[in-house]
Amino acid sequence: MEILNREPDVSVQIGPLVLPNPVGVASGTFGYGQEYQELLDIHRLGALYTKAVSLEPKAGNKPPRLVETPSGLINSIGLANPGLQVFLDEKIPYLQSLSCPVLVNVVGESESEYTTIVEAIEKRIGDYQEGEKSPVDGYELNLSCPNVDKGGMAFGTEPDLVERITRKVRRLTRRALVVKLSPNVTDIAQIALAAEAGKADAVSCINTVVGMAIDVKTCKPLIARGIGGLSGPAIRPIGVACVWKAARAVRIPVIGLGGITCADDALEYLLAGASAIQVGTAIFSNPRAPLEILDGIKAWMRERNIGTLGEIPALLRFPS
Ligand SMILES: Cc1cc2nc3c(=O)[nH]c(=O)nc-3n(C[C@H](O)[C@H](O)[C@H](O)COP(=O)(O)O)c2cc1C
Repeated sequence: MEILNREPDVSVQIGPLVLPNPVGVASGTFGYGQEYQELLDIHRLGALYTKAVSLEPKAGNKPPRLVETPSGLINSIGLANPGLQVFLDEKIPYLQSLSCPVLVNVVGESESEYTTIVEAIEKRIGDYQEGEKSPVDGYELNLSCPNVDKGGMAFGTEPDLVERITRKVRRLTRRALVVKLSPNVTDIAQIALAAEAGKADAVSCINTVVGMAIDVKTCKPLIARGIGGLSGPAIRPIGVACVWKAARAVRIPVIGLGGITCADDALEYLLAGASAIQVGTAIFSNPRAPLEILDGIKAWMRERNIGTLGEIPALLRFPS
């Protein structure tokens, strides 16, 4: 087979935003970037999705809040984060120095918290001059965290609420608006359709899967809160199926994540209909994974003479 001698075009359009490539780093596994600057070239990422930002600082849940399980990790961090004010004052200046797109993961305990946070960030970044790189290129609404008692996943399981929150935030920003979906629902396609109806530019799926592990010697749960969110390779088939269902239901792009560790894993998502992907838990054991995955996707495209990412989903073949 003739090998394509030009570089494939790996850019991805998410509403008004063009991602230079499809490989982003998932919220909660990359902090706000600074923590990783020595470990990989952040500027080469397709997108950085920040740790969740909530209105007030959150200490998170009681430890133990992380445990390894077969091919996975259960976490119950509880959205620990320094809160909106520290984000505005301390994180935004660093994010402005990055050349990769930055999407802020937003979480609220009420509908008004989502709008208050986005409004405050929009106001702050309005101070940056035209032509200057904006510190924030979009938002990812976390309507899907299983680790909190209020908000989070409770919002993401109700299509009407998803549509309403998305619409309210949409009115506040022209920047890219992504709604992050939970796999812990009966029909993810309905939730994706609700986000699309609320005028989201894309949906991302999946957040973690509700999980529990128990030590049979002590008869205690391995996570203080009992249940937590399962991530890592154990959930990849769930994520791929969710992306496939969502991508068949909506016209907006679907961003796939859940258990991606290498280029082949990412390609599964792209074949299932994802326009872009995110790498999460894999970063903990290999911080360079996102860039290795990007190189692997490009090599796979070159070998098959594929010029653009948009051509990939049509390659999915079902046994006849
Ligand atoms: C330690 C940890 C913290 C996370 N924090 C967030 C968060 O703040 N907001 C969010 O939307 N998702 C959060 N997630 C979910 C991930 O972004 C991702 O959806 C999930 O882990 C599945 O991808 P993975 O298997 O590649 O990790 C977190 C995941 C982990 C493991």
